[in-house]
Amino acid sequence: MDDLAIARALHVIAVIMWIGGVSFVTMVLLPSIRRRGEGSGIDLFEALESPFARQSRYTTLIAGLTGLYLIYRFDAWDRFLDPAYWWMHGMVLIWVLFSLMLFVFEPWFLHAWFRRRAEAAPQATMVLIQRLHIVLITLSVIVVFGAVTGAHG
Ligand code: HEM
Repeated sequence: MDDLAIARALHVIAVIMWIGGVSFVTMVLLPSIRRRGEGSGIDLFEALESPFARQSRYTTLIAGLTGLYLIYRFDAWDRFLDPAYWWMHGMVLIWVLFSLMLFVFEPWFLHAWFRRRAEAAPQATMVLIQRLHIVLITLSVIVVFGAVTGAHG
């Protein structure tokens, strides 16, 4: 087992834990909370989602570092100039989107904005959060499909 295999395995484990969690939040947690109707929905969502957001900061970091290491070891920087490697751009785009959310927007203003909006319009806020998650998981699944077929095809 060489360093490339280890980096690839760590990359995939981080992606599974991170994108798998986003899939759970989008397809199980949010619909279940919305089905319960108004009331404690937002509090429950926050209580369950924030430990996941904390864990995602680590898995995002591991995915980014191992991904960079793979590019460095493959010396694959020129892939970014080739449209056939759209999935390489896709991985970086998804990573940047999530990192901005987790490390910048959320602690900076998103959390407070979300709480304020949720107090004024709880149902509409949950719908907005669910839509955002649907966009993110759809993009992520397309990129995972491209990355696996691209890396092995
Ligand atoms: C800065 C962020 C990232 C970088 C630099 C990066 C880089 C890479 C590289 C270089 C590979 C190996 C490609 C090859 O073998 O030809 C790879 C594989 C892969 N990446 Fe990423 N990646 C990043 C983020 C992501 C994200 C966000 C996802 C999921 C949405 C993802 C999913 C995958 C998958 C599924 C594979 C294929 C693993 C395999 O089947 O061998 N990566 N990544």
